[in-house]
Amino acid sequence: MVSPHTVSRRALHPNGPTLSRLVWGAWRARDAAALAEPQGLVRMIETCLEHGITSFDHADIYGQYQVEALFGDALRLDPALKGRMEIVTKCDIALVSSARPGNRVKHYDTSAAHIRASVERSLAALGVERIDVLLLHRPDPLMDADEVARTLEILVAEGKIAHAGVSNHTVEQMRLLASRLPFPLVTNQIELSVLHTEPLESGILDHLQAERIAPMIWSPLGGGRLFASPPEGALGRTMAELCEKYSLAGPGPLAIAWLLRLPVRPVPVLGTTSLSRIGELAAADAVEMERQDWFALLEAARGRAVP
Ligand SMILES: NC(=O)c1ccc[n+]([C@@H]2O[C@H](COP(=O)([O-])OP(=O)(O)OC[C@H]3O[C@@H](n4cnc5c(N)ncnc54)[C@H](OP(=O)(O)O)[C@@H]3O)[C@@H](O)[C@H]2O)c1
Repeated sequence: MVSPHTVSRRALHPNGPTLSRLVWGAWRARDAAALAEPQGLVRMIETCLEHGITSFDHADIYGQYQVEALFGDALRLDPALKGRMEIVTKCDIALVSSARPGNRVKHYDTSAAHIRASVERSLAALGVERIDVLLLHRPDPLMDADEVARTLEILVAEGKIAHAGVSNHTVEQMRLLASRLPFPLVTNQIELSVLHTEPLESGILDHLQAERIAPMIWSPLGGGRLFASPPEGALGRTMAELCEKYSLAGPGPLAIAWLLRLPVRPVPVLGTTSLSRIGELAAADAVEMERQDWFALLEAARGRAVP
């Protein structure tokens, strides 16, 4: 039997935390019957840990504000797991939800009061003393950068969060917040995949590489759209050829290997709820994709060669 590949580790920033090269994202946890109970989630966590995936991505809003508590229940079943993982979570999106009767309209909230309350709730739901990385989930047009920076500094000083980062932020939005902080933003969690390649040209990856910040990548498999590509189409054929060449189980690990080839050294967040797919996806970390294969996959996915 082939032993499972243990994924490598990556510092998000020279002064930032080290995460596993692949992270497991909890967004879809409540959609899968197998994970809807704490015991099922314990099995998923253990499977990730067996493959060296020690970092877990959350947000206060996942599963209508329920997933952090479900994950916390899993940790309460097996408290030893807590010491073997890093926790990333997010704040600032406010959903219209029965869990938040005061929200009349979907909005963003980066006020000091909201960030603090969100962190306190996440700590309690997860049952951990500290969040390793807190992200601002979406850029807030009403953000006062001084107020956010002061709040993040206090939360770090109190030991409630170890590091701060952002998600879905542009270069300018990152620069604004960074200009007020005494410590670096350690990541920007962005959408990127062979099916969503806009960040290759937007300048965000260049900024992150210049600042030595590793992006975390959401929907690395296009949220599952990758698997809808017809096998006889250009993308389907290219993926099949490259899977064979790199001995990969399918389009999933191939699309992850494509991301890992980027010199900004991103950290993809896996959304699968299937235990059996974790090992297949972890195998991508052992692949060094050849330059021309990387462009072949880009061309097949976009339906045109680079100019
Ligand atoms: N910062 C943000 O704004 C933001 C936004 C969205 C997501 N996120 C984070 O990113 C994580 C990943 O996002 P995502 O879930 O969209 O990622 P993804 O990995 O691109 O997509 C996961 C989906 O692909 C499906 N899939 C995987 N392998 C498959 C296969 N071989 N055949 C068929 N379907 C397959 C999964 O189904 P199965 O479960 O059946 O495998 C699941 O529904 C989330 O959990 C969350 O933590 C962040």
